[in-house]
Amino acid sequence: MKIMTIVGARPQFIKAAPVSRALRKIADEFLLHTGQHYDANMSQLFFDELQIPAPDLNLEIGSGPHGLQTGQMLVAIEKALMAQQPDWVLVYGDTNSTLAGAVAAAKLNIPIAHVEAGLRSYNRLMPEEINRILTDRISALLFCPTSCAVTHLAEEGIRSGVHWTGDVMYDAALYFAALAQTKSAVLQKLNLQPHSYVLATVHRAQNTDDPAALSRIMGALLESGQTIVFPVHPRTAGFLRQYGLLEKMAACSRIRLLAPVGYLDMICLEKNARRIVTDSGGVQKEAYFFQTPCITLREETEWSETVEDGWNVLTGTDPEKIVQAVSSFHPTRPQGRHYGDGRAADRIAELLSKIGH
Ligand code: UD1
Ligand code: UDP
Repeated sequence: MKIMTIVGARPQFIKAAPVSRALRKIADEFLLHTGQHYDANMSQLFFDELQIPAPDLNLEIGSGPHGLQTGQMLVAIEKALMAQQPDWVLVYGDTNSTLAGAVAAAKLNIPIAHVEAGLRSYNRLMPEEINRILTDRISALLFCPTSCAVTHLAEEGIRSGVHWTGDVMYDAALYFAALAQTKSAVLQKLNLQPHSYVLATVHRAQNTDDPAALSRIMGALLESGQTIVFPVHPRTAGFLRQYGLLEKMAACSRIRLLAPVGYLDMICLEKNARRIVTDSGGVQKEAYFFQTPCITLREETEWSETVEDGWNVLTGTDPEKIVQAVSSFHPTRPQGRHYGDGRAADRIAELLSKIGH
């Protein structure tokens, strides 16, 4: 069986690490990188650190408005699919690379397997929500990370090909946490004591592209009085510069602005943070995995279990709520087991090998 895996953005490299390892035991994998993310610290670093096989093809599409970026991917992926003739196309998550891969495959009648199927924020202003809904609609195999995702699909009438597998990001976090412990010296390098800082990440379009929203978030971080370790996504760096906020942040000695860090350093920073402030999907979950209280800069989340368990609080971009949560949010209840047992990737490979032929 030949599988074409399509990745393009940072979280997809992390998800592909455990899945590719499992897939290559049962199938011939062709790894296609769309080039959506291309800076060394957004792409190559993850291939090196997580020992992901080098892409067989990098389309080098790069950045652009949604239509142009997705359209260029569609054209180039179609060409690659016609040349490679895979039996299956495997896509991850909800980025433009996911949608382009799924649409290209569907038009050529190649069955699609979607990892991280069934997630919903029920906010169609998010580009990711559109990408998820459309990809789920045309997938033959839908691998759900949570039972809640299975329910969402059932509510939309999608029942065939749906499998609860557990979350591949949990697999990755478990597998690489031990390695991070020995390999990452990020705390020493930054001269940070464990639990002496708050870790922040921001990159969602609704938070970065709106100057008022980004300014409220940055204002709250400045006002919090905490040491903030902030690896800055390139999208956010661009807007901070454009809105004149970068200088203000850099001038505050408690704010440690960093370039994006590698996964092993990120895991270490997450594990040792007092709290995490983020709008990232992956980071919210990792906060939960490592039992670090999380403050989410959104009005809703796809990872609703983390909120229901009391380990994640939604503040949106309200500065008062953010400042209050950053200084005093405390989970009071034990966590559930929502994300599987660390064997989601094996389950995905098993299902593909059973059903895929
Ligand atoms: C994308 C995904 C988002 C995901 C995120 C993970 C879509 C619609 N969005 O958002 O769901 O959570 O990746 O990080 O697919 N840039 C660089 N260097 C890079 C990559 C990007 O400088 O290597 C800058 C460019 O200015 C670009 C901007 O970041 O225009 C946004 O990049 P893009 O891939 O379009 O969206 P993300 O915000 O990264
Ligand atoms: N991440 C990383 N370095 C960073 C920021 C994030 O390795 O500087 C990792 C993080 O640990 C998580 C993933 O990137 O595994 C999340 O990706 P991102 O926040 O870009 O996207 P999302 O999950 O929101 O789609």
